[in-house]
Amino acid sequence: MTEPTEAGDSEDEPAALSPAEGSDLLEGDDKARSVQSMFDRIAPRYDLVNRIMTFRLDLRWRRRAVRELKLPKDSTVLDLACGTGDLCVNLFQAGLAPIGIDFSAGMLASGRSGAPLTQADVLRLPVPDGRVDGVTCGFALRNFTDLHAFFIELGRVTRPGGSIALVDAAEPENRLLRLGHAIYFQRIVPKIGGLLSDKNAYGYLPKSLAYLPAPEEMIASLNAAGFTDARRELLFAGAAQLITGTRS
Ligand SMILES: C[S@@+](CC[C@H](N)C(=O)[O-])C[C@H]1O[C@@H](n2cnc3c(N)ncnc32)[C@H](O)[C@@H]1O
Repeated sequence: MTEPTEAGDSEDEPAALSPAEGSDLLEGDDKARSVQSMFDRIAPRYDLVNRIMTFRLDLRWRRRAVRELKLPKDSTVLDLACGTGDLCVNLFQAGLAPIGIDFSAGMLASGRSGAPLTQADVLRLPVPDGRVDGVTCGFALRNFTDLHAFFIELGRVTRPGGSIALVDAAEPENRLLRLGHAIYFQRIVPKIGGLLSDKNAYGYLPKSLAYLPAPEEMIASLNAAGFTDARRELLFAGAAQLITGTRS
C-alpha cells in the first residue's frame, strides 16, 4: 500500500463520540470529528462486517458504480472517502487509475488496494480545478457535514465530460420492504456490528440515513454543481442507490 500523504484539515485529537448520541444526530465539526474517530476505531474489521451485513452485495454495487463511469482506460479517477479502498480495487480492475482520499488514517492504513492515497477532508480537496476524469464515492454521503459543498467540490475537480458515480445505502420506497429493511438495519445490523466490531458505530449506521436529503434535492444540488444530467437509480429493491452524472 502507498503510504498516505497528509493534506487538508484532519483533526489530531478526535473526540471519542458516536455521531448519533441517543436519537440526536451531531452536526458540523462535532459530526466530522466523531465520524473520523469512529472510522479509525472500526477500520480493522470494516471490510468483514460490510461483507456479512450486505451478504456481499456491497461488492456488486461498487462494481456497478465503476461501470457507470463509462470512462476510457487509464482515466484518472478520485475515489473520495475511499476508506479501505474497495472501489480503488474495482477501478484498477476496470483499467482506470484511481487515487484514494479519506480523512481517517485508520481506514487508509487498513487498505491494500495499492492505489496512491492522500489523507484529506473531501470538502477541501487538495486537487486543482478540472484535473480528474472521474470521481467515485462509496457509502459515505451520509457522513459528510455539507453535501452541497461536497457536490460543488466534485464539480470543481472533474473536467468537462468527466463523470461521477456515487453509491450509498437507501431506504426502500415500498412500505413492506421498508418495514423489513428497518427491522434488519435497525435491529440486526447493530447486533452483527456489536459482536464483530463496535456496537455504537453500527448503531449509528441506520440512523445516519436521516442525514441524506430528499432525492430530488440531491439531484438539484448536483445540477447546480455542473452535473446537469445527474440521475439516481435504486439498487436491490431500494436498499442502495447509485447517483451518476457527467460534468457539463
Ligand atoms: C462507510 S465508509 C466507506 C468507505 C469506502 N468508500 C467503501 O466503499 O467501503 C465512509 C468513509 O468516509 C470517510 N469520510 C467521512 N467523512 C469524510 C470527509 N469529510 N473527508 C474524508 N473522508 C471522510 C470515513 O473516514 C470513511 O472511511
